[in-house]
Amino acid sequence: MPYLNRDGHMTDISVIGLGAMGSALARAQIAAGRSVTVWNRSAEKAAPLVAEGAIAATTASEAISASPVTITCVKSHPQTIGILRNAGNVLPGKTIIELSTGGATEAEELSQFLEGAGAEWMFGIINAYPHMIGNEDAVLSVVGTEEQWVANSPIIKAMGGGSVHVGDQAGMLAALFAGLFTVRQGFMWGMIYGAPACKKAGISMQAFSDLVPISMGMMKPYYDYFAATVPEASYDNPPAKMQTYAAALEDVLASFEALGARDELPRLFVEMANKGMAAGYEDQALTAVIEVLARERS
Ligand SMILES: NC(=O)c1ccc[n+]([C@@H]2O[C@H](COP(=O)([O-])OP(=O)(O)OC[C@H]3O[C@@H](n4cnc5c(N)ncnc54)[C@H](OP(=O)(O)O)[C@@H]3O)[C@@H](O)[C@H]2O)c1
Repeated sequence: MPYLNRDGHMTDISVIGLGAMGSALARAQIAAGRSVTVWNRSAEKAAPLVAEGAIAATTASEAISASPVTITCVKSHPQTIGILRNAGNVLPGKTIIELSTGGATEAEELSQFLEGAGAEWMFGIINAYPHMIGNEDAVLSVVGTEEQWVANSPIIKAMGGGSVHVGDQAGMLAALFAGLFTVRQGFMWGMIYGAPACKKAGISMQAFSDLVPISMGMMKPYYDYFAATVPEASYDNPPAKMQTYAAALEDVLASFEALGARDELPRLFVEMANKGMAAGYEDQALTAVIEVLARERS
């Protein structure tokens, strides 16, 4: 006998957590034509969604019971675990899609709790601001079993049309976030390190700043080089060999040293390129260093 909430409704989907993001997620589900139950710790945040057709549950337990699938989007995984632990015995047979951001250890803890409680799960990272939710090109990166992805991708793609399934372990998303954040922070810290070296040489920060986008024109070829070599671990016949990069990086480090500029970043580049050379990749693509680093144990 399915649970019926106090208004006698069963809905398609429930959303727990109606902050900026949770409200946008609930709105996208309403826009996709699903019947939606919502719950938030501070009850007043449900009102705008109720005005748009959602049903407000008075407890998290009631929200989970109302639908086969519940999206959770609160502060982080520990808050989701707290809510679910307090919800009582309503989880067996349900699917929880956890879209709160969180760390690997907490994600594993939450997934184990859900499995122990007889629930299925998916976890996702939302690569978008709330106003982008529901767009064709918004992307949620999700993990869960292939079966869960097949079953829930219409729900997930209603929130981000470009969403992707990246694996089946709950803890993978924290590593994915760390890896991708490092890519863009690499750009940020490249500017932060490059600027003082130029400043010490008397180059105006306006000139440096104006020329960054010109230099960044190489980012697409860099990315194409990465995409053409790394997924297949195929590093032969590169347009520029590792030894060519290593020599240029040595020159860059020497310039930093001569200027008396902080040089940890170019020194790291030289050290890593030298590791790749020592491993025998000198005639191959620079990206082959990935193979050396991935084999290392910290
Ligand atoms: N906003 C973004 O651009 C964005 C982008 C990507 C991912 N995210 C992720 O989405 C999640 C929510 O972010 P948001 O922007 O919606 O934040 P927010 O506007 O600050 O909302 C936070 C939500 O979490 C709830 N909450 C916090 N602690 C709770 C607890 N102990 N028990 C029950 N509910 C609790 C809040 O309930 P109350 O209303 O009762 O305080 C509120 O619904 C975060 O994990 C965030 O990293 C956000």
